[in-house]
Amino acid sequence: MLRIQGGGPLQGDVRISGAKNSALALMAGTLLAAEPTRLSNVPDLVDVHRMADILAAMGVKVSYHNHVLDIDPTHLSTSHAPYELVSQLRASFFITGPILARLGVARIPLPGGCAIGARPVDLHVRGLQALGAMVTIDHGVVHAYTKKLRGARIYLDYPSVGATETLMMAATCAEGESIIENAAQEPEVIDLANLCRAMGARIRGAGSNTIAIEGVTRLHGADYAVIPDRIEAGTFLIAGAMTRGTVTVGPVIPDHLTGLTAKLLEMGHCVETVSPSRVRITPGRDRRAVDVSTMPYPGFPTDMQPQMMALAALSEGDCVITETVFENRMNHVPELNRMGADIRLKNGVAIVRGVARLSGAPVVATDLRAAAALVICGLAADGVTTVQALHHLDRGYDAIEAKLIKLGAKLQRQSAETLA
Ligand code: EPZ
Repeated sequence: MLRIQGGGPLQGDVRISGAKNSALALMAGTLLAAEPTRLSNVPDLVDVHRMADILAAMGVKVSYHNHVLDIDPTHLSTSHAPYELVSQLRASFFITGPILARLGVARIPLPGGCAIGARPVDLHVRGLQALGAMVTIDHGVVHAYTKKLRGARIYLDYPSVGATETLMMAATCAEGESIIENAAQEPEVIDLANLCRAMGARIRGAGSNTIAIEGVTRLHGADYAVIPDRIEAGTFLIAGAMTRGTVTVGPVIPDHLTGLTAKLLEMGHCVETVSPSRVRITPGRDRRAVDVSTMPYPGFPTDMQPQMMALAALSEGDCVITETVFENRMNHVPELNRMGADIRLKNGVAIVRGVARLSGAPVVATDLRAAAALVICGLAADGVTTVQALHHLDRGYDAIEAKLIKLGAKLQRQSAETLA
């Protein structure tokens, strides 16, 4: 568990790692070529190593050293991903498109749901069927088979990030042109498109709601750097606002943070771009409460919702926080209330009544971003907070404790035994 002594402001610069939600998709994308690809600026995360284990179990040579990932899928030997590994990492389902494009067959266990929702893959499946694959699901495994993928026009009922990425990858080697309409516009989709283009794919429109992919016969290896993690950056900006400290995050791509920075400005904080790749927050005197609704990009990101709720808990006034992307992403509310927050849930909408102080307490993380929200609260609360179930934090934040300590946080990781 993490033991946090709340109180002082965080001050200083923090180095932002490569984006988790890009790195995982890029790792799947490398399978499209029968040649090695090097990914750099890869964050050192449990999820990245889990994905590497899945690729290795399928005959791919993978080595990670000092934030560089060398992936050689030349000898990809099986279309079957191991259940015990896939069930631990939802993003592993993203390999379905590339495996199918590469081998003509894919047998990938259905990714489990998780704390935040059922996480269905119907949009992925329907899109692959549109591209000419036969797809059935039985005994919890997705079986996909095709002689040759054919270009198609696909409309996504919802701008799903994963479905957009799966279908964009599958379409790179299909016969003819594919169009994905109502596509996700997240920066991680653009990053994946840029990797595929570096590998020889022909993709236009990534980042807009319509992506056109002209199929090619084969892709080759590439050398590619992962974009900075906008969610990690946003988490640290909120931690600065929460503890009334001045925090600068970099490297970042400022445009990727617009949804969050607009809200922080509305709350009265000063957020400025101090260089093309660094953004600084200087907390405002007052802390206006502002309503937030999560939306697909470029709207306010769902992955920042728990952290924003922590900040709203310490603001002046009431606000409403609505989670529109996932059906069950409010598990952090009871834990925040244990720390003195005043949050009520009504039909999945959180009504947050701002309080002047939070008090340290023992809390348990329920998912990755909830864990981050609890740590942020602990930094600002009076007294000591202990956060349990840290494995959630380790999935998505690279060396977060060291980064927080460098900013002046008083915290340390303790095993339950030493505490006892
Ligand atoms: C990606 O998940 C991210 N994960 C999530 O980050 C992020 O919250 C999410 O996109 C939204 O931005 C990775 O990139 C590894 P979706 P993904 O498909 O692709 C529904 C984090 O904390 N849906 O855009 O799974 C789905 O149930 C994680 O880093 C279908 O109904 O998200 C959800 O309600 C959490 N059918 C909504 O769409 C489908 O076939 C958005 O899901 C697919 C999705």
